[in-house]
Amino acid sequence: METKLRPYLVSLAALTLCTLSLFGQRQRPRQYDYPATLDTEGKHVNAHGGSIFRHGDQWLWYGEARPERGFTSVGVALYTAPATADMSQPQTVAWQNRGLVMSVVDEAGSPIERGCIIERPKVLWNESDKQFVMLFHLELKGRGYDAAMTGFATSKTAEGPFVLHHAQRPNAGKWPTDFTEADIAHAKTLKINDFKEWWTAPWRKAIAEGLFLWRDFEAGQMSRDMTVFTDDDGTAWHIFSSEDNLTIHAAELTSDYLGYTGRYYRIAPGGQNEAPTIVKHNGTYWLLCSGCTGWDPNEARLFSSKSIAGPWTQHPSPCQGRGAKRTYGAQGTWMLNYGNGILFMADVWNPRSLANSRHLWLPLTFDTVGNPIVTGPNQ
Ligand code: GAL
Repeated sequence: METKLRPYLVSLAALTLCTLSLFGQRQRPRQYDYPATLDTEGKHVNAHGGSIFRHGDQWLWYGEARPERGFTSVGVALYTAPATADMSQPQTVAWQNRGLVMSVVDEAGSPIERGCIIERPKVLWNESDKQFVMLFHLELKGRGYDAAMTGFATSKTAEGPFVLHHAQRPNAGKWPTDFTEADIAHAKTLKINDFKEWWTAPWRKAIAEGLFLWRDFEAGQMSRDMTVFTDDDGTAWHIFSSEDNLTIHAAELTSDYLGYTGRYYRIAPGGQNEAPTIVKHNGTYWLLCSGCTGWDPNEARLFSSKSIAGPWTQHPSPCQGRGAKRTYGAQGTWMLNYGNGILFMADVWNPRSLANSRHLWLPLTFDTVGNPIVTGPNQ
C-alpha cells in the first residue's frame, strides 16, 4: 500500500508545485506588465519612489536610482523636462536623464556608505536659503531596515551634487503635540516586555496609546516610507511611516527644512499604513497610503482632514475599476498637483529588478460631493 501510494503522492506534490509556479508566473509578469517610461535616449527611467515638481523653467523628477539586481542603493537620480511639457500625459513627456544628483559613497562609516538603502527621496526648494533640500528614508549599511532614519541633503542647484547634511531619527525626546499630560503619564507606564505577543487586542490598544512612541522616545521616532508637503502658510511637513510601520507621523520641519520643530501629530495610530502621499484640495488634506505588504501591492487607504493636526477620517479607497483592490499593482509615492489637475504617482515594484520597476501615474479627480476618485489604467 505504502509503496503504491508513494509515487502517487510524489506526482501529486509535483503537480501542485507546478501549478503553483505556473500561477506564480502568470500572476507576477502581469503585475509588471506596464510599459517602460522612456527617457530621451530611449532608456527606462531609473527613478523610483520619487516626486516631481516645477522649478523655474523645468519639471524636476527625483527618484531612487536602483541597481538591476539587489536591493541596496546607487543614489538619487534626476530627470528633467521643460516646464511647457504636458503633465496630464507625463509618460509622453521627453524626460532627460541628468544623472545621479547624490551617490552613495565609499567612505567607511558614512551614513550613505555603499550598501545603504536610500528610498523615497523628496526635494523641496527653500526660498529663504536659496537651496534645494532633499529628505529621504535612509537605512544604514548592513542593518537591513533597522535604522529607520531620515537623511537630509542640500544643493544650490537642481542638478546637484546634493551634499549629505546629516541623518537622524525625528523628534527624539518629544511627545506628539496633541498628547495631554495624562496621555504622556499613561504612555510612560507601557512596557515592551509586558507584550510578548504582537497583534493581540491589548497590544493594539497599547500601540495606539504610545507603546512604541515611548520605546523610541530617547532615540527618536522611526521614519521609513515618507513624503513631504508644503502648506499654503509656508510650513513644511515630513510625513512618514513610524512606530514599526504602524502609525503615520506628520512632523513639522524647521524653516530651513533641515530639522524638526518638535511639533508633530500621529495619523491612524496602529493602522499599519505606509507609502504616504498627500494633496490639499479645497481646504481638505487628502492622504493616500498603502497597507504594509513590502513590494507586493495592496489596497490603497484614504484619509482626510481639515487640518494636518487632525482629526483624520478614513474613507474607502478612491481606486475604481479593474485591479482597484491591489491599486492596479502599484504603490503610491507622490501627488503631483500640476495646476490643471492632480496625478497620483505610483510605483509598480519589481523586486527581481528594482531598476525596472514601472511607473503608474493616474489622474486623481473629485466626484460631485468632493470625494477623490482614481480610475484605473485599464478601464
Ligand atoms: C515597501 C516600501 C518600499 C520599500 C519596500 C521594502 O513596503 O513601500 O519603499 O521599503 O517595502 O520591502
